Amino acid sequence: MTAATVEVHLAPGELHAALVEDARRGLLAPAGHKQLPPVWFYDDHGSALFDAITALPEYYPTRAERALLLAHAGDVAAQAKASTVVELGAGTCDKSRILLDALRGAGCAERFVPVDVSEATLRQAADDLCEAYPGLAVHAVVGDFHRHLDRLPSGDRTMVAFLGGTIGNLRPDERGRFLFDLACRLRAGDSLLLGTDLVKDPGRLVAAYDDAAGVTAEFNRNVLRVLNRELGARFDPEAFAHVARWDDERSWIEMRLRALGTQRCEVAALGAEVVFEDGEELLTEISAKFTRDQVERELWDAGFAVDAMWDQPGGDFLLTLASPSC
Ligand code: AVJ
Repeated sequence: MTAATVEVHLAPGELHAALVEDARRGLLAPAGHKQLPPVWFYDDHGSALFDAITALPEYYPTRAERALLLAHAGDVAAQAKASTVVELGAGTCDKSRILLDALRGAGCAERFVPVDVSEATLRQAADDLCEAYPGLAVHAVVGDFHRHLDRLPSGDRTMVAFLGGTIGNLRPDERGRFLFDLACRLRAGDSLLLGTDLVKDPGRLVAAYDDAAGVTAEFNRNVLRVLNRELGARFDPEAFAHVARWDDERSWIEMRLRALGTQRCEVAALGAEVVFEDGEELLTEISAKFTRDQVERELWDAGFAVDAMWDQPGGDFLLTLASPSC
């Protein structure tokens, strides 16, 4: 078995410095403006909680996307004929296997490049893949794909997979910039496989982010545990309520933490006290939901032409294959 290569694109301390910066900007903001980017959910415990979320009865996206991949991976392989597959935010690489099976079956996919910020998860996944796919070159990249797109290896016929609906974590302007940067990096013959969650009944959307078992609430509060550990803070996670809300105008789910009573907390790494008034909320995640037309339009505006779209009869989730239009 050939070993996976793992390239670490995060300098020691780089992640920590980014967290301090995000916390400074997001936690010292005045009431009504406090926010943190969702990337900080995913320490080992948070990654395990997310895995548990994907198995919840209310959380349909993972199952819906998986069913689409199983049904259409052959079509994806036939159209993309990719020799290199780059997966952004690959995590445990579960979904990658469906794509790799189809591509390898079609005599493609010589190299797989999973990209993720969680080094431990990525190393394990990369080793498992090497064992499962003899002859596949696994070249894992530990990094933040928002900032490190330029450092990704490129080759002939690269397919970039950005799945799970994670693009919904970006705001419209960030999405546009991200897709534009990506389109600029790709060449003729390359492709993008994008997974997006679709707009649906708000009741189902909210339930997916506020499950009866309270796993998503724990996942949300976990960001406070990360702050406590990494920044020497002392937030009481139980003193914050989990809030999931559908914003119809912006077409996104918001997750927030609402202070139950005034919360004052010294954050050592900031050298400052963070104050939440009673009822004040911290925005921890947005998860945008799309329509087919909107996905096509946003891709086009960023420099991609849609080659194919797949969704299921219920229309829960959408897979789009696109290629650079210039
Ligand atoms: C991994 C970003 C796609 O937005 O649905 C799940 C994360 N947050 N439950 C999503 C998440 C709350 C998830 N993504």
